[in-house]
Amino acid sequence: MKINFEKDVALGPLTTFGIPAKAKLYTTFKNAEELRAISLSDEYADNEVFVLGGGSNVLFNGDFNGLVIHSQVTGRKKYLKDEDTAFVIGGAAENWSDFVAWTIDEGLAGLENLSGIPGSVGASPVQNIGAYGVEVGSLIHKVECFDMVTRDTILLSADECKFGYRDSIFKNEGKGRYIVLRVSFRLHPSKKAQNLTYGPLKNFESNLGRVPTTAEVAKEVIRIRNSKLPDPKVTGNAGSFFKNPIVRIYFYKEVMSALSPDIPYYETDDPYYIKIPAGWLIEHAGLKGYSVGGAEVYPSQCLVIANKGDATAQDVLEVAHHVRDKVLEKYGVTLHPEVNIVDTGIKVTILGTGTSKGIPEVGCFCPVCRSDSPKDQRTRCSALVETKGVTLLIDVSPDFRQQALRTNITSLDAALITHSHYDHVGGLDDLRPFCAGGKFSIYLRKDVNEDLHKRLDYCFRESLYPGVPAFDMHEIADTPFMVKGVKVTPISVLHGKLPIVGFRIGDFAYVTDAKTIPEEEKEKLKDLEVLVLNGLRYKEHFAHFTIEEALEMIKELKPKRAYLTHFCHEAGKHEELEEKLPAGVSPAYDGLVINIP
Ligand code: EPU
Repeated sequence: MKINFEKDVALGPLTTFGIPAKAKLYTTFKNAEELRAISLSDEYADNEVFVLGGGSNVLFNGDFNGLVIHSQVTGRKKYLKDEDTAFVIGGAAENWSDFVAWTIDEGLAGLENLSGIPGSVGASPVQNIGAYGVEVGSLIHKVECFDMVTRDTILLSADECKFGYRDSIFKNEGKGRYIVLRVSFRLHPSKKAQNLTYGPLKNFESNLGRVPTTAEVAKEVIRIRNSKLPDPKVTGNAGSFFKNPIVRIYFYKEVMSALSPDIPYYETDDPYYIKIPAGWLIEHAGLKGYSVGGAEVYPSQCLVIANKGDATAQDVLEVAHHVRDKVLEKYGVTLHPEVNIVDTGIKVTILGTGTSKGIPEVGCFCPVCRSDSPKDQRTRCSALVETKGVTLLIDVSPDFRQQALRTNITSLDAALITHSHYDHVGGLDDLRPFCAGGKFSIYLRKDVNEDLHKRLDYCFRESLYPGVPAFDMHEIADTPFMVKGVKVTPISVLHGKLPIVGFRIGDFAYVTDAKTIPEEEKEKLKDLEVLVLNGLRYKEHFAHFTIEEALEMIKELKPKRAYLTHFCHEAGKHEELEEKLPAGVSPAYDGLVINIP
């Protein structure tokens, strides 16, 4: 089957933000056969891929240097099972609002509270869209997807979709793998509204003096939405830009209430956690109408960032960062974006570049340890990777607190751990500020997890001392894994005899503490833009590459640029080392920022 790939396609008109951006390659699919052909193409194999639905929850940060696949699967069907149950099926590209209106016209109840939401049927399970007391996950029966890995069509049950608040398997391990073809919903044959728990709808019911019809609720929901939310046909936006943070009650009482006693909250299904309306926090932090260029905090619903007409993605992100920082400053909680921020760029901040003792070494008077140059002050090794709106920390060094303060790290999505030696994990307890909004995710090998359970046993007991860090440990194998939509490929290397991991994210790889890289793992380090690799010193070491060995490896792997890290003082002063290294290789230093387009 011949697939047509268009070049340089404008994405602005395909998104509700309406911000100009182009896709290097673009194609559409109408069914599983076309997706199978796409999955077999060179264009698919050679490019980063993004699957576009209704474009109502996405912000392209600049041109997309990859392949955009756009659903065109249409069609609606209805099956009456019995007097209580009906199933409706919608193609992924069906317009969501029209689909909901159709179910109401067909005399089926359930989706009425979700009226007027921009976007497509296919996006509804991805984000687990929710409004006015209903989350779509509770009404989804099955999701039919195409698996781009096995090239089979599969049916996922609601349980298998792992629905959470604005979350699902499609945003995590299934991202880029399961492409939604059709969604089926279990509805109720009735004209009576089903869920009137949301305050304003409860009032609507009592004002009417009877249970409203589905059509009446749909009309009321659309009226409420129009009074608060900008119409994307007129003012570009992607609905709520941030998620409402879910925080531990303990954190709310101890930290947030101490900063401001009147912060509202809602209960959640978990008795230990509550949900805070982020719109309230943003408004009360004085940010209503705050704008940069053409982007503004929408005055009648501060959770929305609107495009006043000529906003760039950079304007939107500057507003978002300012909002995040001000809310954190005033209320102590970090907001996380709900909108899918898409870019192929990666920003790496090297947080620490020293070996286990750091430089200067305590009690050492050598010229390197006495150097005044900031580039000779090396804290223990760690790096921060920012891509697609996600911030990942590689290793949590004992100097993490200092690194976080000087780099102004206010938001972290997860940590990836190379191995359990103290200089790579000693700062784990200092991740506490990032555990406030729920458990903090850590990705690590099984042996490392077991080691940390012993060392940090106080974090994993049945009954926990309040305030200890809350971790969600994800054990990784030697196959790629997804962290909030970012694909991470583990690279198995040997640290002396100890098997440890490095990580590849896009065209960036970070390998530290290696002495041997097995042949098959070298394959995973080909065609890199940037490689960060350890080079301890000139003298031989049983567990670390020397600088010479690191340079040999770089010669073999041929990344476009390489940086050395994990230095001890015997590597010499930064300035002198820089002069000795060949073109394309530099010594990393604390605070170095590497941008990969
Ligand atoms: N609030 C303010 N100022 C604001 C915005 C809200 O004080 O600028 C207060 C409101 O007065 C209210 C509370 O915050 O007391 C909650 O506001 P609202 O009911 O409007 O809902 P929300 O929590 O801000 C969520 C969804 C919306 C959904 C509404 C209604 C998220 C991220 N957003 O917003 O979904 O329409 O509830 O159910 O959960 C979307 O996801 O794009 C979206 C629009």
